[in-house]
Amino acid sequence: MRNIVILTGAGISAESGLRTFRDSGGLWEDHDVTKVATPEAFERDPDLVHRFYSDRRNYAAKVEPNAAHIALARLQNEHRGRVTLVTQNVDNLHERGGSSEVIHMHGELFRALCAGCGHRWDAPVEMRTTDPCPSCSLPRTRPDVVWFGEMPYHMDEIHERLEEADLFAAIGTSGTVYPAAFFVVDAARSGARTIEMNLEAGENASAFDEVVNGPATEIVPDWVECLLKKARGD
Ligand code: OAD
Repeated sequence: MRNIVILTGAGISAESGLRTFRDSGGLWEDHDVTKVATPEAFERDPDLVHRFYSDRRNYAAKVEPNAAHIALARLQNEHRGRVTLVTQNVDNLHERGGSSEVIHMHGELFRALCAGCGHRWDAPVEMRTTDPCPSCSLPRTRPDVVWFGEMPYHMDEIHERLEEADLFAAIGTSGTVYPAAFFVVDAARSGARTIEMNLEAGENASAFDEVVNGPATEIVPDWVECLLKKARGD
């Protein structure tokens, strides 16, 4: 198992206290996606969109990484082959849990993006459209997150890693949002073994070779321990 590719979703941060999207009590239960997470919503009511992301940024800054984030960082540090960590999450709990290389395919809550020139910078806690871009001075600041209808980031790099994968794991994701939900099929096509780790079976569970259900803080550290043990030959 030289090359491991891991995809994480909101479920890995749930036990840190961040809300998922589609579970009962999830963010999309009391926020309309079309009003806060599309380019059209931002054109229509940028203040509302900024408020939604500023609230999430404020909240995400106060929570801590959990045992699952920390276990994946340990795997990245101790595995002899390559461990590619792709996340759909916009929080920074993987980095704060010790991961140095994280591919944020849906962007980052703590980064700002100029809709005029494409410059990126560290986000202030409260962000406003009228904040001038540090590079071009245009007042067109938006969160550096991928909205519905936009292209996820780093897709070429992710596909390259999936083509070389020996093992693919999806953790804490409902398997409902594409293209991420299709990565299991891409990985299997490349000959990788595939495993889903989630509280309950996701929409695409039948596409995986193995499914483990339970809370991420329990099943992920166990899985990492088992992989590292196998590699050591104990
Ligand atoms: P979802 O909210 O769709 O799914 C979260 C998954 O995590 C569910 O399948 C839960 O069963 C599982 N889960 C909840 N608590 C868990 C725990 N403690 N341990 C393990 N699993 C747990 O979130 P995502 O799949 O990440 O996109 O959503 C994908 C994308 O849809 C997000 O990146 C976001 C959203 O709309 C954009 O905003 C573009």
